[in-house]
Amino acid sequence: MSTAYLNGEFRPLSETQVSVMDRGFLFGDGVYEVIPVYGGRLFRLAHHLKRLRNSLDAVRIANPLSNEAWETMLTELVARNEGLDQAAYLQVTRGVAPRRDHAFPENSSPTLFAMSTPMAEAVDIDSVTGIAAITLPDIRWKICNIKAITLLPNVLLRQQAIDSDGAEAILIDDGLAIEGAASNIFIVRNGLLITPPNGPALLPGITRDLIIELATNHAIPFREADITQQELCNADEIWLTSSTREISPVIRLDDKTISGGAPGPQWRRMISLYQDYKTAIRKGEAS
Ligand code: PDD
Repeated sequence: MSTAYLNGEFRPLSETQVSVMDRGFLFGDGVYEVIPVYGGRLFRLAHHLKRLRNSLDAVRIANPLSNEAWETMLTELVARNEGLDQAAYLQVTRGVAPRRDHAFPENSSPTLFAMSTPMAEAVDIDSVTGIAAITLPDIRWKICNIKAITLLPNVLLRQQAIDSDGAEAILIDDGLAIEGAASNIFIVRNGLLITPPNGPALLPGITRDLIIELATNHAIPFREADITQQELCNADEIWLTSSTREISPVIRLDDKTISGGAPGPQWRRMISLYQDYKTAIRKGEAS
């Protein structure tokens, strides 16, 4: 049975409830993180907690826990749930208010919720066949660097991709490819790895940052630059990255076959570096 955490207490997920007056429920007024766990260890926790702090500051919710207290709580949550590999989810909302009013309530305290679900442990690189993606206009707000729980546009975009037999939507704004509905984007062109620069248009992905680090450490040519829709269509390889999907190679974009319809050589190189990094985390040699 899955165990959740709510405002200081651990209990079965199925028995964990919040008030209908919680502003997360009424307004989507909160922020969240998804943190992978490999071999029982939290992946890049310091990076996730820094991004959480940035999101909380941006929406003016006081961080309810110190970094040490977050680590203690999340470590216990992971220990109480099944499996060595998990995806830990946490969210902080502005809390429960006495009435529905857009303005911040005067005396609310944040609601802190966390749960963790098992993730498949072994990834067999040879069995990865790649995914289909579609391009769609980016209909989201203008501060997508905040990891807000207000995800209705992302939900609609992802569903549109699924309805067209795709796995992800790649969002286009002003002729540029920005990111996926729940992932960051990379392309490979003539051996050069490219991802759009961070800014208000996209989420600063933790997986994205690790890929940049791995590219730098292994002398893989890399650049942060805008990607036009044309460049996306003509890319040798397209990857979508996230905590839960890791690095997904795109083999079909709209009606076009990408990288010959199979994961490309640069993807193979990067996913094996990524798997090595996960192995180091499992052994406690990386964080
Ligand atoms: N989403 N961009 C968006 C819009 C995302 O929602 C996500 C992740 C990412 C990748 O970020 P990271 O590498 O830190 O997971 C980029 C999570 C997994 C989710 O909403 O479930």
